[in-house]
Amino acid sequence: MEESQFLINHYSSKLEQGKFTWESPSNIALVKYWGKKEDQIPENPSISFTLDTCKTKTTLSFRKKAKKDNGFSFELFFDGKQKADFKPKIETFLTRIERYLPFLKDYHFKIETSNTFPHSSGIASSASGMSALALCFMSIENEMTPDMSQEYFIKKASFLARLGSGSACRSIEGDLIVWGQHNEIEESSDFYGIKYPFEVHENFKNYQDTILLVDKGEKQVSSTVGHNLMHGHPFSEKRFNQANENISNLIKALKSGDLDGFIQIMESEALTLHAMMMTSLPYFILMKPNTLEIINRIWKFRKETGLHIGFTLDAGANVHVLYPETEADKIYEFIKNELVAYCENDQYIRDKVGKGAKLLI
Ligand code: DP6
Repeated sequence: MEESQFLINHYSSKLEQGKFTWESPSNIALVKYWGKKEDQIPENPSISFTLDTCKTKTTLSFRKKAKKDNGFSFELFFDGKQKADFKPKIETFLTRIERYLPFLKDYHFKIETSNTFPHSSGIASSASGMSALALCFMSIENEMTPDMSQEYFIKKASFLARLGSGSACRSIEGDLIVWGQHNEIEESSDFYGIKYPFEVHENFKNYQDTILLVDKGEKQVSSTVGHNLMHGHPFSEKRFNQANENISNLIKALKSGDLDGFIQIMESEALTLHAMMMTSLPYFILMKPNTLEIINRIWKFRKETGLHIGFTLDAGANVHVLYPETEADKIYEFIKNELVAYCENDQYIRDKVGKGAKLLI
């Protein structure tokens, strides 16, 4: 039922050609999505902060084909250069979404995309990339369906982005997004992300995220492979239940402003994610020695100063250092003086919670 609302069989007008540009952010999960069923349905709900600085900008140009044929027609440019190795991922995406966007085979598309951060470095480039592309497609559909509501636009963009990459459905809006059905969050859905609907304490407004680029190389194991290893995983059931409980506890911490409670959930989630990787078959380790150095230094500094610095990890070696805006000066000083040395070429990105994607043209 929920899915069928995104099917459309008639457009009130058709376009000859056009162009849209969207800028869409990455996001960082506090409670992680790790494990999925068929059709990009998550095994457990997840919740994330939308980021501000880490973004993908995508321009989608389209013109009507002389004759509709049975294939997708598109070219792909990454940083101005043709990128053949991204094409299969886009082809899969188009195949999954064609049912919901029946105009896709009528056009030739040119996709031009660039990131503000290194591709495949554990910063979710698939989240920002797939959400930007989904939004471009929605802009085309919107032109052909002028009475579409803003609410439907956002929901369907998130729905489509999910079919490109699960976490991408959390990159459309800000600042806290929930994806996946949770019994305390009435509107939550496995099909798309929604804005976190409850009260959030001042402590979490404008939360800071400095991303330490420990290893900017390509990931050894893709997220998709990792998700699949949760099938038949000895701890999967426990893990999926735990994610639900962690969301319940996070709701309380976010409301009361409990920074210690928040940090505990966030760090435990990061380590559990990596524990799942280390206990799957085949097992693998994505953390690097410097990841652990940074974690230990964060814990030591927190103990010594009582400041609310915490970390989380994605499926990679990079460390997201999260802290409240009110403590930003002291913590950022510490990061620069003591943590940046553990990054590849001293590289890091100073980011914070953001408001979501933007239409540029
Ligand atoms: C560890 O969304 O990249 O970042 O759906 O296969 O594209 P696919 O996976 P993806 O998985 C991200 C997993 C994570 C945790 C999270 O963001 O929730």
